[in-house]
Amino acid sequence: MLEKGENVDVTLRRASVVAVTMATSRQGTGVVKELSKSNKYQIRAITRNIKSSKALELGSLKNVELYKGDLMDPESLNRAFDGVDVIFGNTTPTKGWKVFRGSIVRAYEMEQGFNLINQVKLAYTKGKLNHFIFSSISKAKDPLKNDPAPGHFTSKWDIEEYIDSCDLKEITTVLRPVSYFENFENKLPGYTISKKIFPGIVDKDFKWQTIAVEDIGKWVRGILSKPEKYKNQSINIAGEELTGPEMAMTLQKLVESEGLQTNYVVIPRIVMKLLEYDIGVMADWIERTGYGADMNKLKIIQNELNIVPTSLKDWLKGKLEKQNNTRNSWSREWKSSQWKLQWDK
Ligand SMILES: NC(=O)c1ccc[n+]([C@@H]2O[C@H](COP(=O)([O-])OP(=O)(O)OC[C@H]3O[C@@H](n4cnc5c(N)ncnc54)[C@H](OP(=O)(O)O)[C@@H]3O)[C@@H](O)[C@H]2O)c1
Repeated sequence: MLEKGENVDVTLRRASVVAVTMATSRQGTGVVKELSKSNKYQIRAITRNIKSSKALELGSLKNVELYKGDLMDPESLNRAFDGVDVIFGNTTPTKGWKVFRGSIVRAYEMEQGFNLINQVKLAYTKGKLNHFIFSSISKAKDPLKNDPAPGHFTSKWDIEEYIDSCDLKEITTVLRPVSYFENFENKLPGYTISKKIFPGIVDKDFKWQTIAVEDIGKWVRGILSKPEKYKNQSINIAGEELTGPEMAMTLQKLVESEGLQTNYVVIPRIVMKLLEYDIGVMADWIERTGYGADMNKLKIIQNELNIVPTSLKDWLKGKLEKQNNTRNSWSREWKSSQWKLQWDK
């Protein structure tokens, strides 16, 4: 079970032990990396496969130990949570893709949620666990326009209700992120980000809240610096609030010296609904009500918790710098049945 005990600094043997579920996910990786950098915690990175390349990369970080755990297997969680002080909990709605279903399955996420919360409760009852951070999804800006909400949103909000019904609210902080910047790197031919295309899922007139996935790690680090103040709290978190054309303009300003124009291109709703119905429902939802992060209030909390949110501009700059060294799918455009590199055009 314990794979990388040697990575835990001896001075940290008595530091808080933080278990991170779904550690190899984009969110989980962000959390593990940020806590590892802080050099204040022993981190248990939980994954179903401790031998995968993503897991091994995490296991090589400072103060990180790999633990085997599956959200569909309560006993594995029980073992991984044994003796921890803090749990970062996350769940996934994504099962294998099927025609007429897509990959998002609400019941799959609900089962993980029940298993997770039951094991959090058990760990709390044993007496050592004192803080649970649950990663949900942002609630609506206008609750009156919430319905119909996507299934992979309602599952997370239902899990929040289960936390309350298990009397865990007092030790829980719910973080509710909005859409990741990383979604712009989708693999949909013709709609993946490049210097010329900024892909979006909502019409050009809507302001749309987004966040860099690594910032969820910064939020967890921040919350853990003032745990008593932020237990029993729920916060919708975002880094930017821009329209699609404003996002495209942010990229264009970075590439205009190359004489390029970046266009905001909306993925047709019918394509979204055919490929992943719930994502199409999500796009309808964002246009109808929008994510509910209070950007002004967030600035105050971020200052207090020493969180510097990643701006879209900085995120894009980082991607461009990386692209200059290694070309990957981000710089490709689907044409005539082949990937055509357009990065330097
Ligand atoms: N995309 C967005 O914009 C966005 C915004 C806010 C919230 N979210 C939510 O964030 C959550 C995580 O998304 P993500 O994109 O960070 O994930 P991701 O990168 O797609 O990773 C999914 C991870 O889930 C793990 N996993 C799958 N089934 C599991 C199970 N039964 N038990 C334990 N682990 C399991 C896998 O790890 P192993 O194979 O290593 O076990 C994999 O690393 C999802 O609920 C999503 O809805 C997404």
